[in-house]
Amino acid sequence: SRVDWDISAAEKGGYEHFMFKEIMEQPEAVRKTLSPRIKDGRIILDDIELEPDYIKGLSRIYIVGCGSAYHVGVVAKYNMEKLVRIPVEAVLASEFRYASPLVDASTLVICISQSGTTADTIAAMREAKKLGARVLSIVNVVGSVIASESDYCLYTWAGPEIAVATTKAYSTQLAVTYLIALVLAESRGTITSAAYASLVDGLQALPSALEEALKLKEHIQYLASIYFNKENIFFIGRNIDYALTLEASLKLKEISYIHSDAYAAGELKHGTISLIEEGTLVIAMASYIKLVDKTVSNIVEVKSRGAEILTLTTESGLNHVTHTSDNIITIPDIHEVLLPSLAVVPMQLFAYYVALMRGCSIDKPRNLAKSVTVE
Ligand code: G6P
Repeated sequence: SRVDWDISAAEKGGYEHFMFKEIMEQPEAVRKTLSPRIKDGRIILDDIELEPDYIKGLSRIYIVGCGSAYHVGVVAKYNMEKLVRIPVEAVLASEFRYASPLVDASTLVICISQSGTTADTIAAMREAKKLGARVLSIVNVVGSVIASESDYCLYTWAGPEIAVATTKAYSTQLAVTYLIALVLAESRGTITSAAYASLVDGLQALPSALEEALKLKEHIQYLASIYFNKENIFFIGRNIDYALTLEASLKLKEISYIHSDAYAAGELKHGTISLIEEGTLVIAMASYIKLVDKTVSNIVEVKSRGAEILTLTTESGLNHVTHTSDNIITIPDIHEVLLPSLAVVPMQLFAYYVALMRGCSIDKPRNLAKSVTVE
């Protein structure tokens, strides 16, 4: 009815879809998640007590989740290993339990879940506890099973997320992983105070950098209008950009139903390059400046086989990629650890506009549920 429509439009903050509203809410959601935990240049993880001896005695970290929550884990693996210098593995919750994970009291298991009710993640959490690990959860829904049963919970203060395809929950989860990495690194003495301070500065600048990234929306809408008819899209990237391709590809598949594949850029020639033909779209994520030239050489490999190239890079990366790209998305420069937070935004917008132009059911894609409570 007319009345229902009005209520729903109001809930969507005047936007056509919850997904778009939630994309736009990201700066605020990240600010709410970060700011209570940064005090006088120091990170305070709520009232969580991870004793210095426990942190020093850690032998490994597992990060467990499903879907996009798992993808946050893949980004965090790269960042945490870099900062904390212990083995960190991101594992799909549905695989964790049956894979004889190396878990004991010296293992920290981080469970990531927006809903806090995903059956596979609950099962992984319980298994980890049974094996003697402490479980730290990153959850959005207050009081949910994972939030209550884990040893410690750091909430993402994203507010309710309605669209099935997650955006602001993903971004706030990422933000929490930066905080954890910083606390562990400091406690283990693997970060200098200057590096700590510069990352804290970066965190404080993150919400406004996200606002900048959202200003790309008209450009992304234009790019979507060029590419929305593609039936196959390949994403490539290295390191944290590879982790991002997983999420960028999932987002696009979930809501636009375009088939896509995410590949580590250097691995392409060992497999999927056989699928590249004249006009295939390859989206190269090249935000990580240290590896941008390596990714460019992989761009050249697919370009010479006829691929069209859309490259995502930073202001500093721009002059490295112009000669090999048909189109470019440029995000602002930020601390390299935090790049995924900015790089994901244009990819969310790309998925959104492509799905919109294809007339898809954006907030409720076919066959998908917001939270999956069966194994
Ligand atoms: C479902 C959703 C995904 C989500 C995953 C994990 O499959 O469709 O978008 O990433 O569950 O959900 P959670 O609530 O545990 O983060």
